[in-house]
Amino acid sequence: MNLVIFGPPGAGKGTQSKFIVKKYNLHQLSTGELLRQEIKNKTRLGEKIESIINSGNLVSDEIVSNLIKKFIADNSYNNRLVFDGYPRNLNQAQNLDRLLNQHNQKIDIVLKLSVGLEVIKKRILERQIQEDRKDDNLEIAIKRFNTYEKSTEPVLDYYKQSNLLKIINGEATIDEINVEISGLIERFKGWL
Ligand code: AP5
Ligand code: MG
Repeated sequence: MNLVIFGPPGAGKGTQSKFIVKKYNLHQLSTGELLRQEIKNKTRLGEKIESIINSGNLVSDEIVSNLIKKFIADNSYNNRLVFDGYPRNLNQAQNLDRLLNQHNQKIDIVLKLSVGLEVIKKRILERQIQEDRKDDNLEIAIKRFNTYEKSTEPVLDYYKQSNLLKIINGEATIDEINVEISGLIERFKGWL
């Protein structure tokens, strides 16, 4: 199965993806982490995108599409992908369907973690202490949230049409969300 984990910055996409991939032997594909890796390795792409990411804007659709293509084409990840942070606009959602279709795959479940701005601010300020992410400060977190509301949230309508969307209360505890997501996956697999 292929899953999309959707939600605003700090919603818990990474946290829940890591849990799912381990439990169900899937592969996490976080475009944010791939982009940060480019910056860390000081590649040409990394230099190009650093200021965009640090200012809380989206990098171009073409750049992220190029990053995810090889995973979709790789047979060892066939029907085992958890998309964390992709798609982020309608064009990316359509591109993802197209790329998966070329490799006889599709999206099976779209999970949306709903979290309000106040909780997000709190989580991002806490994470700021633990991790060194240049985009983790109050001003840029609010900017990322606004970018999410403007560009990314409308993509949900696209998935609602195809009945793939499951909305989860992302303000519950990490464990409670784990249990809810496991139930959805296992129902999909026919185990429950
Ligand atoms: P990305 O890395 O995707 O960042 P994001 O969407 O802003 O989300 P985060 O990674 O900050 O949060 P998360 O939802 O993963 O939450 P987490 O599990 O860490 O993207 C970064 C940037 O890259 C973008 O701004 C953009 O510039 C660029 N980019 C990426 N993809 C792109 C694309 N497709 N197109 C264009 N540009 C793209 O949790 C957050 C914190 O909360 C953690 O400390 C965690 O421990 C804690 N926590 C998690 N769940 C809970 C819970 N239930 N209760 C309490 N605490 C919790
Ligand atoms: Mg993340």
